Order: sequence, then C-alpha cells, then structure tokens
Amino acid sequence: MQQVTLAQPGGLDKLQVADAPAPGAPGAGEIRVRLHASSLNFHDYGVVIGMMPTADGRIPMSDGAGVVEAVGEGVQEFAVGDSVVSTFFPDWQEGPAREGDFTGVPGDGVDGYAREQVVRPAHWFTHAPAGYSHAEAATLTTAGLTAWRALVGDGGLKAGDTVLTLGTGGVSIFALQFARMMGARVIATSSSDDKLARLRELGAEHTINYRDEPDWGERVKALTGGRGVDHVVEVGGPGTLPQSIEAVRIGGHISLIGVLTGGSGEVPTAKMMAKQVRLQGLIVGSRRQQIEMIQAIEANDMRPVIDRHFPLAQIADAFRHQASGAHFGKICLDI
Ligand SMILES: NC(=O)c1ccc[n+]([C@@H]2O[C@H](COP(=O)([O-])OP(=O)(O)OC[C@H]3O[C@@H](n4cnc5c(N)ncnc54)[C@H](OP(=O)(O)O)[C@@H]3O)[C@@H](O)[C@H]2O)c1
Repeated sequence: MQQVTLAQPGGLDKLQVADAPAPGAPGAGEIRVRLHASSLNFHDYGVVIGMMPTADGRIPMSDGAGVVEAVGEGVQEFAVGDSVVSTFFPDWQEGPAREGDFTGVPGDGVDGYAREQVVRPAHWFTHAPAGYSHAEAATLTTAGLTAWRALVGDGGLKAGDTVLTLGTGGVSIFALQFARMMGARVIATSSSDDKLARLRELGAEHTINYRDEPDWGERVKALTGGRGVDHVVEVGGPGTLPQSIEAVRIGGHISLIGVLTGGSGEVPTAKMMAKQVRLQGLIVGSRRQQIEMIQAIEANDMRPVIDRHFPLAQIADAFRHQASGAHFGKICLDI
C-alpha cells in the first residue's frame, strides 16, 4: 500500500511517498479501514514543517475517512462496507476534556492517516454522515468538530445568537455553517474582498475586511447595535484576541482555538473582567461530540466547503496551497 512518512526535522521536502506492507487482519475489537481521504489542518501543517517536532518516520495527517474492509472479533458497531471517519482523540470517548496535549493524536503523537489502509481499535472511528463523500467526511475529524464543540458544546449556541468568525479557513467556515444551521446570525472577517463575498453567499449577514479595518472589534460592536456578539470563534490567538474581546458582548463567550498570530501575547485582562467574558480554551472534542455533530449534519443535510482536492502523492503541494492562504474552507487529499 502507498503511505507517506515524514523524516525529521520536518519540512515539506521531508515528506516521502513510498510503498509499505499492507496491514494484516484486524484483531479482537479492531477494524481494518481502506482510507480514501484526509483533509489538511493548520495543526498538520505545523507537524509537517517541523514546527511541532514528532518521531522520525511519522505518518502524518489527523483526519482519515474510508470504508471498513474487515472487522475483528467482538466488533458490534461497524460492518464491512461501512463508511467511517477517524476521531482526533481516539481515547477520549465522552465527558469532560481529558487530553491536554497531542501525544495520542494520529498524525502527531502516533501515526496518522496519510496511507491507504490502517488497522485500529473500532472506537478510533465513528460512522460517517450518510451520503457524504469520503473527502467530505474527512473534513469533520478536526475542523468540523472544533467548530461544533466551540459553538454547541461549550457555547450553548441558540437560535437568534450572533456569532463572530475570523478568516476563511477550515474551522471558521464550519463555524459559519453550523451557526447558520442552528439559526444564529453571523458576522465574518477575511483579508480578501472576494472571500467576503463568498462568506455572504454562505449566509454571513455582515462581513469585514480585517486588513482594511484593523480595529474591527468596534465595527462588530456597532453592527450589533453596540451590544457585541454572543460568541467569538477565536482562531487568531494573541494578535486578534484584543479585538475579539472588544467585539464580544458583556457576559459573552470566546472559544480560544487558534494560534494563527502566535502562541502568546498581551491580553487586556481588565477589559475581559469588566465585560465578564467567558474565555474557553479548547482542543477539538470527544468521540461522543463527533457522533452528535454527525447526527446534526444528517438532520440538516449540511455539506462542508471543500476548496480543492490533491492526490495523496501530492501532499506537499497541498500544504503549499494551504500555506499560500488562497484557500476558502477545506483542502482534501484523495487516497
Ligand atoms: N484548538 C483546536 O482544537 C484547533 C482545531 C483546529 C484548528 N485550530 C487552530 O485554528 C486556527 C485555524 O485553523 P484552520 O485549520 O482552520 O486553518 P486554515 O484552514 O489554514 O485557515 C487559515 C485562514 O485563517 C485566516 N487568518 C490568518 N490570519 C488571520 C488573522 N490575523 N485574522 C483572521 N484570520 C486570519 C486566513 O483567512 P483569510 O484568507 O480569509 O484572511 C487563512 O486563510 C489555527 O491556528 C489552528 O491551529 C485549533
């Protein structure tokens, strides 16, 4: 079977596509999956360029979707032929957060899904949404579940709420789509006017070019009649958090998700305190939350926005496309 490995210290030129022996029959409690798609996340990019060091020879990619080829003894949940999608934290089944790092995460602490076949415990996967392509399903593991947990799990999103999304990457477009699906209003930012037009087509009520308007927090507040938004899906980090704190309503909720502008910085803590903001850090979510998200997707026939597909062998080109920032939504690998 074909697989991709990453030699250390990382870098796109350290991605090697090669043949490897196919895995054998699944053992008790395991399934063998013929993977057909993966999708790119900022985190995968951090791993492959060596920003997040991993083991030499690691198989990258946290997202994987495909078809069950064989089931081991005792597996009840899946049958041969089922379409499945991987989970980000394979051992966090349900309940409160219990993983504080990436040591158990496929494509980082353990081998991931840039390969044709894998044998894993059945609980590392869930069913994919009915009618989804494998590429669509692969977008859910990381970006989809992060946006879902931010808004629905942690945020308690309700119809009529207003959500602020930042930029047009995978997480932010999912957040826009889930917010609209749940009957919320959306204000969205981007650095590109063309992308702002596409955000409006997807249902954003107001859009702001964050390059042209660096003080976009005030603008968001004005657009909500001075009140502020109920939820911010904060993918920027220290460079955007002060504006997000400006934009959120008193008692509102900010999901601290991303590091697009760096890993640490100054935070206007007094303003946060005065506004009584709820700031919730998060990393993706549990398997239970993935199952709930998929139920909601099926009930609403929601489809992810895929920017572009690349074959597995062109994984480095796919990451170059991501690094260019030209994408809108998800970039997928066809395996
Ligand atoms: N904590 C978690 O569980 C979790 C899960 C997934 C992702 N993340 C993090 O969330 C962030 C986004 O991830 P992703 O996979 O969605 O990335 P992505 O698909 O690569 O998205 C990148 C997009 O972010 C936007 N952007 C860049 N700088 C920005 C800024 N200063 N202000 C606003 N938008 C900006 C750009 O949109 P425009 O081109 O429209 O300007 C860019 O296209 C990353 O930091 C990632 O590590 C965290």
